Amino acid sequence: MTKNIILKNKSNVLFFINRTKNNILHNNNSNRNIFPNALVKKKKSREYFSQEYWENRYSWYTQEMDWYTNFNQINNDFKIEEILKENFTSPKKCFFLEMGCGNSTMCFDLYNLGYKNITSIDFSSIVIERNKEKYSNTKIKFIVCDFNRMNEMFEKNQFDVIIEKAGLDSIAVKGTPEVPFTLQNIYEKMFYVLKNNGIVLSVSSKNPQFWKSNVFEELEKKKLFKCIQIRRTTFTNEKNPILMNLYFYYLKKI
Ligand SMILES: C[S@@+](CC[C@H](N)C(=O)[O-])C[C@H]1O[C@@H](n2cnc3c(N)ncnc32)[C@H](O)[C@@H]1O
Repeated sequence: MTKNIILKNKSNVLFFINRTKNNILHNNNSNRNIFPNALVKKKKSREYFSQEYWENRYSWYTQEMDWYTNFNQINNDFKIEEILKENFTSPKKCFFLEMGCGNSTMCFDLYNLGYKNITSIDFSSIVIERNKEKYSNTKIKFIVCDFNRMNEMFEKNQFDVIIEKAGLDSIAVKGTPEVPFTLQNIYEKMFYVLKNNGIVLSVSSKNPQFWKSNVFEELEKKKLFKCIQIRRTTFTNEKNPILMNLYFYYLKKI
């Protein structure tokens, strides 16, 4: 049984500690992989921004896999459904855009909770084709699309909610000077496709200082997005017994 402790640190970041047996998070309902070793191999992580890297990876990695943790856990820790209820009178009618879906089951988990209008994008055509087949009995739309081209693929004000887990982190880990501009640019595309009362729910291993100084402050200056809430959860898993921080960023279109 999981028990959450909620604390606040000096910068007012809500801080959740998952107290699970042995402090290990389990994915209860399947043998899906969570948080693979690859994530902590820093050298490799530099390649995560590259389409070629992901096409290659998905050509051999066909299993379902959720980076960091699964949707049920983030829904529980970060109160995703509560935020949806606070923002929308009929959250289940909202139009969702999931950025960088990969092999994750997040879209399917959301779908099973009753959120039926979901579009999931990724720039890997291999993973998108596989998802189309795997979820052919659902109404989830899978589209090959680079984050940088969302404004060409979608109409203005098309979505109520953008949700992403570890998608933007793939760009952030590149660690080069242009990363902040690339991320700000992607947020501009997100602004374009979101409706006026739209929200962004982002799960990242990058800390608040990184996001605030490189992206959020600029977005607020440009009157695009305001960061409403930041939360943190801490967990370990069986393969990597290192205590990891995972952050949740909830932004609203200004
Ligand atoms: C770390 S994985 C996360 C996958 C999934 N969201 C999860 O939580 O398990 C990052 C995903 O983002 C996709 N991605 C990275 N950069 C992208 C870009 N510029 N445009 C579209 N997809 C991108 C990759 O193909 C990969 O599937």
